[in-house]
Amino acid sequence: MTPSPSTPRRVTVLDLASARAVRRPLSMVTAYDWPTGRLADEAGVDCVLVGDSVAMVVAGRSSTIPATLDQMIYHGEIVSRAVSRAMVVVDLPFPLQHLGVRTAVKAAARVLKETGCQAVKLEGTAGQADVIAGIVGAGIPVMGHVGLRPQAVHQLGGYRMQRDEERLLADARAAADAGAFAVVLECIPRTVAAAITADLPVPTIGIGAGPECDGQVLVMHDLVGLSPDRVPKFVRGYADAKATIADALARWRKDVEQRAFPGPGETLG
Ligand code: KIV
Repeated sequence: MTPSPSTPRRVTVLDLASARAVRRPLSMVTAYDWPTGRLADEAGVDCVLVGDSVAMVVAGRSSTIPATLDQMIYHGEIVSRAVSRAMVVVDLPFPLQHLGVRTAVKAAARVLKETGCQAVKLEGTAGQADVIAGIVGAGIPVMGHVGLRPQAVHQLGGYRMQRDEERLLADARAAADAGAFAVVLECIPRTVAAAITADLPVPTIGIGAGPECDGQVLVMHDLVGLSPDRVPKFVRGYADAKATIADALARWRKDVEQRAFPGPGETLG
């Protein structure tokens, strides 16, 4: 089917590669629902990530580990319907990438078929290269994710900077060699991120990894000031949505209590 002329053209893996070639920085932000998916798309970002961070920022869990495949599909389908131009990437939740190539391909295929997204992201070390290759072999674009892997938070001893340069380079290289079209670098030293970015043939997208990455990703709730907890040091808050919403709710409650709401123009009939 040919898209109608009014349908914006979707960002593809080729666009991300071209952006890297001309050194145009890439932007990716998380979204988990229809209104924020639309806002992200309208802001012109390259990619919208339906991250398993949904478990923390939306469901209030203390890690991303509880996110399930069905939950990722639920949120992924909503966001995919809201986004018409950006590439939608959906996280494979723990522990699917550790259960063998067949299981991971089946899960990634479900995500692609049932959400309408364009790619999956998976956290992993060089040990998951065969899984990336298997999913890519099925025609499903994969974004790798190395460095601080929140799904491995207990093994890593907390949400901390990862500094083993040799290992980080090997993990990122293995993801790219296995066919990943881009690799997220989370919480690693700037110099290491720069070295990986120079080494890889595909774009790197950093979060807490410095400005030399090919792109940047942030959790939307951190970026707009809606996260309930303290945000990491690498976040820049561009709005104070929590204060705006709290103020609106407090003023509305007061108006209700003082019978100032609803007013004459807000009453039907
Ligand atoms: O789940 C998520 O939001 C992520 C980003 C922090 C990269 O993986």
